[in-house]
Amino acid sequence: MKKTYLITGGAGFIGSHFVRYLYEREDGAEIRVLDKLTYSSNLKNLKEFEGRDNFEFIKGDICDQALVKKVMGGVDVVINFAAEAAVDRSIESSYGFLQTDVIGAYVLLEESRKQKKLKRFIQVSTDEVYGQIMEGSFTESSELKPRNPYSAAKLGGDRLAYSFFSTYHLPAIITRAANTYGPQAYPEKVIPLFITNLIDGHKVPIFGEGKQIRDWLHVEDHCSAIYHLIDRGVNGEVYNIAADQEYTNIDLTRRILKLMNKDESFISFVQDRPGHDFRYSLDCSKLKSIGWQSKYDLPEGLKETVEWYQAHEDWWRPLKEKMEKRYLTGFWGAKK
Ligand SMILES: NC(=O)c1ccc[n+]([C@@H]2O[C@H](COP(=O)([O-])OP(=O)(O)OC[C@H]3O[C@@H](n4cnc5c(N)ncnc54)[C@H](O)[C@@H]3O)[C@@H](O)[C@H]2O)c1
Repeated sequence: MKKTYLITGGAGFIGSHFVRYLYEREDGAEIRVLDKLTYSSNLKNLKEFEGRDNFEFIKGDICDQALVKKVMGGVDVVINFAAEAAVDRSIESSYGFLQTDVIGAYVLLEESRKQKKLKRFIQVSTDEVYGQIMEGSFTESSELKPRNPYSAAKLGGDRLAYSFFSTYHLPAIITRAANTYGPQAYPEKVIPLFITNLIDGHKVPIFGEGKQIRDWLHVEDHCSAIYHLIDRGVNGEVYNIAADQEYTNIDLTRRILKLMNKDESFISFVQDRPGHDFRYSLDCSKLKSIGWQSKYDLPEGLKETVEWYQAHEDWWRPLKEKMEKRYLTGFWGAKK
């Protein structure tokens, strides 16, 4: 049966990939995208869907309850990607994060519970709600200890979604995914920042000594996991999403340098981020037990991503020209 989807944050990185992923599987799906168009969004991400009868873009804020009520009419599935999602920016100023990531999630949940037809609400959360882990991997029942304002705000939305399940029986699911990469990520994120800096012959800034470990997930795998959960997830449950691809930041950087034929003189070590989480690692056996598998390993996904940025300067250059210098050279400024 043809479904109607409300995708919030659909003009951003993962949300826009998800819209494409959805149309590739359900060509007749009605998709509404609600997006405030903040600095990290890009309407070019949605251009290919313009003019389709079954696609509607609505510019607006998920905190605007009257608007949310209006766009929610007749919706079967809500997927909340909308967020302020940059850790460094949240350390500088966190109010906007609380607005969107907590109040915005609340408004969506509140209007969703009034929709009799609603079959699924997916709150897109993050592995950062667990905090850091030195050994082993987080399961969905690990302690929640977010260590920066972004992840604390995301945890607010995450637990509100759970509370709407337990209080109002809203068919909510919460996903906690690892660091996501791929084409069309805003160029202040580490992988596109490094690739585009190197295309321009600039150095790449590494926080501290680059020993931090991240678990890398290709955006296509992030989308396939969320799609899988729409029908196969269990109401009220949390699902970790990752692809078992742990790399230190310095190793990741060396791989990018190699793919772009650059040597280590292009590395600039800069002052570390305050409260920088050392390692993230997710145990995804719960998601795998219901039949999901990732497709990408990092070396393959990284090669494809480098090639995409090399071929799409028209996409990233206008965004990068507007970025402040500190985002290009290492957020916390001072060289070590
Ligand atoms: N990128 C990652 O590594 C990663 C990993 C795990 C989880 N997540 C989560 O996935 C989601 C999407 O992340 P992304 O990397 O695509 O981010 P993004 O910044 O590229 O996209 C976010 C989108 O949300 C929109 N938005 C922001 N505030 C809004 C508001 N108040 N109302 C409506 N729209 C608003 C922005 O305009 C943007 O288009 C976020 O919820 C993030 O927390 C991201």
